[in-house]
Amino acid sequence: MRVPIIAANWKMHMTVSEAKEFVEEFKGKIEGTDVEVVICPPFTLLNTLKEITNGTKIKIGAQNMHWEEKGAFTGEISPIMLKDLNIDYCIIGHSERRQYFSETDEIVNKKVKSALAHDIKPILCVGETLDERKAEKTEEVVKKQVLAAFKDVDRELAKEIVIAYEPIWAIGTGLTASPEDANKVIAFIRETIKELYGEDISEEIRIQYGGSVKPNNVEDIMNMEDIDGALVGGASLKAESFAQIVNF
Ligand code: G3P
Repeated sequence: MRVPIIAANWKMHMTVSEAKEFVEEFKGKIEGTDVEVVICPPFTLLNTLKEITNGTKIKIGAQNMHWEEKGAFTGEISPIMLKDLNIDYCIIGHSERRQYFSETDEIVNKKVKSALAHDIKPILCVGETLDERKAEKTEEVVKKQVLAAFKDVDRELAKEIVIAYEPIWAIGTGLTASPEDANKVIAFIRETIKELYGEDISEEIRIQYGGSVKPNNVEDIMNMEDIDGALVGGASLKAESFAQIVNF
């Protein structure tokens, strides 16, 4: 039985006061949920959010990290720094980082291994562009990203990774993959994990869908057999709508 996981990716949004207001409203609305709930704010909010969510069901994740523990890397944040704040998760390889910050599959793999080595669970993002989908290359692209990200990752640690399938054309566009299409790709990703680590790990690993998840489409998405959760951008910025998603 996989525990569903719904995560907010706040991207470059929210100030301290906005985040406090959000949590104040949000925490009371999700008390009855059995879903694992994660909020991934910008770095500037990690400490505050850790403090104000203490004793609630909310877990906290970062949106990125460097793979080195320390060094001359101006502007970067290390896994040791995240662990110092008891951060549970870290989004790795989001398409915006691949696209705007030149993150390659090799970098993503280094970050995944470093996060696991520091007891931070990666939320590993994979997904195809619209052109790749039109060229019927979705499976090829996603498989390449998954194989690269899991390179040299031990079996025991592999199952800690949460994979987020985010078709790039569905991010922030209001377009979503149909639940059936998303499920098909996610089942294919699970099959890829099976080839790598065997059936037990592939049945245990959680795979989310991301891309214009909203209160009005989350239920159909979550009802699909292979989809274990959602990674939510825009609709996670308001306590009301993110709570509706969590309580689908
Ligand atoms: O990581 C979540 C994301 O990229 C999806 O964003 O705004 O389409 O829900 P959005």
